[in-house]
Amino acid sequence: MILAPSILSADFARLGDDIRTVVSAGAQWVHVDVMDGHFVPNITIGPPVVSAIRKATNAYLDCHLMIENPDACLESFARAGANGITVHVEACTHLHRTLARIRELGVKAGVSLNPATPLDTIGYCLDELDLILVMTVNPGFGGQKFIPAMLPKIEGAHKLAAGRDIIVQVDGGIGKDNLRTVLDRGAVSIVAGSSVFGSGDPAKTAKEMFRIADATVD
Ligand code: DX5
Ligand code: ZN
Repeated sequence: MILAPSILSADFARLGDDIRTVVSAGAQWVHVDVMDGHFVPNITIGPPVVSAIRKATNAYLDCHLMIENPDACLESFARAGANGITVHVEACTHLHRTLARIRELGVKAGVSLNPATPLDTIGYCLDELDLILVMTVNPGFGGQKFIPAMLPKIEGAHKLAAGRDIIVQVDGGIGKDNLRTVLDRGAVSIVAGSSVFGSGDPAKTAKEMFRIADATVD
């Protein structure tokens, strides 16, 4: 399991400390939720904050762009220190070109699918992909309820990725209670925001999540 705590639920006034806490507890990635107030009804952070985080940690910075016209910002995020950039299929007119551009910038390329979006939208882009993000809530806010109807989609993404160097990621409403279920369906990278940073003890929660994952029998 690759744990990617979402800083959306962290304390933005103590971001460096919050990130160090979860990374020390074993989190390999830091999930950065970028929202523009257009693609999703919320506004969060952009490249300057990614750049500041880059100075605070060596962890993999996993940037989830919930923005319209992501092409205009790819270079800024790459320069700011993103290791991975994930765009939404619904926001890309020329998805294949966008994914190729992300890789040209030396960054891992991911694509995210809203709950209503079928997997076959990405079938012709698999050669350009390093990560498939199956949204398990409608994007825009932390702390929403996991949508169980996404379980077959996680399984489908796992099948699409089989035999390729593609990571299946899930994002939204994931915590200790349903971690086992999504891992069993083939998720490898787990985004968790409120269940980690809202737990009162993020380090303890992250470690408990790794224990649940280690109990996996493949
Ligand atoms: C949702 C974001 C998620 C969110 C996850 O729009 O993409 O990364 O922060 O938060 P939780 O884990 O609280 O659902
Ligand atoms: Zn996210």
